[in-house]
Amino acid sequence: MAGKWKCEKDILCGVNEPKDRENLEDLEKKHMPLIEAPDKVKKDEPFEVGITVGGIDGVDHPNEAGHFIEWVELYSGDTFLGRASYSGGASLPRAVFRVKLDHAHGPLKVWEKCNLHGLWENTKEITVE
Ligand SMILES: [Fe+2]
Repeated sequence: MAGKWKCEKDILCGVNEPKDRENLEDLEKKHMPLIEAPDKVKKDEPFEVGITVGGIDGVDHPNEAGHFIEWVELYSGDTFLGRASYSGGASLPRAVFRVKLDHAHGPLKVWEKCNLHGLWENTKEITVE
């Protein structure tokens, strides 16, 4: 399968990514998962990956019963590494995963699911040596 399929007019279709990373819209600032991880790690040595949703330029995502971040998932390429789930109102979408890789399956990838605004993705390149 080549590339991703995404219909432009339906936020709940496919995976959302910013249209212009240098010029984020408010909806993108609220939903883009931010990834903190080293650029380079050693094979089989544990390291931490931090994930935060919202707060870019002070634009927070709502956190209430009717509108909240349901979960975040971390992948190496398409290889699943971990998942954290949140309640609406009481827990905030921040996660730290401790992982180790024997090789990079691709860039680190995070999917984030908002109950109203669907699935959002961000990636970060990482070298395993
Ligand atoms: Fe949302």
